[in-house]
Amino acid sequence: MSRLLLISGSLRGGSTNSAVLRTAAALAPAGIEAEIYDGMGRLPHFNPDDDPTDGIGLDAEVAAMRAALGEADALLLSTPEYAGALPGSFKNLLDWTVGGGQTYGMPVAWINVSGAAAPSGGADAHDSLRKVLGYTGSRIVEEACLRLPLSRGDVGEDGLIAPAAAREEIVAAVRALASAL
Ligand SMILES: Cc1cc2nc3c(=O)[nH]c(=O)nc-3n(C[C@H](O)[C@H](O)[C@H](O)COP(=O)(O)O)c2cc1C
Repeated sequence: MSRLLLISGSLRGGSTNSAVLRTAAALAPAGIEAEIYDGMGRLPHFNPDDDPTDGIGLDAEVAAMRAALGEADALLLSTPEYAGALPGSFKNLLDWTVGGGQTYGMPVAWINVSGAAAPSGGADAHDSLRKVLGYTGSRIVEEACLRLPLSRGDVGEDGLIAPAAAREEIVAAVRALASAL
């Protein structure tokens, strides 16, 4: 059994990025367990003073996030671009992963859903993501990274991505990431 942890960079209720990851979890093929991490909005602001090397006194939400990372074999991310960069909340989460060390050597991929409303296709955010993941020691699985332009209208009433072709691409990315383990 491969365990994937799915993390969305968006806190928005109707988020397209979160919908993609819900779809990945719902349609994950047999042998792949995909868990969605939903605590990003509860993480405190990263402060090195609050990240003791012995872990004593570490915030419970940070500890829970690191435990979820520790149980995962690989990470699948999906994030919007805000003002030419990663969303602050998501960068905050990534900053907390540096001291935890769980992501060192961990295979990671992302699905970039930036659509027609994003002329750059979210390129700055994803260039930045690549750089940050270098600092967290993750191993980017290029063949599992997917550029899948979507819009809010592609999210169905069930909260999943509706178009069948998009669903197939999402499942293929999940398979490619699991194959890299
Ligand atoms: C404050 C703000 C800033 C944004 N800045 C950018 C940007 O710099 N580049 C871009 O491509 N899209 C930008 N967008 C558009 C979002 O990336 C787009 O709405 C995306 O679908 C949001 O993801 P979500 O549906 O998962 O919440 C911005 C949106 C907001 C709310």
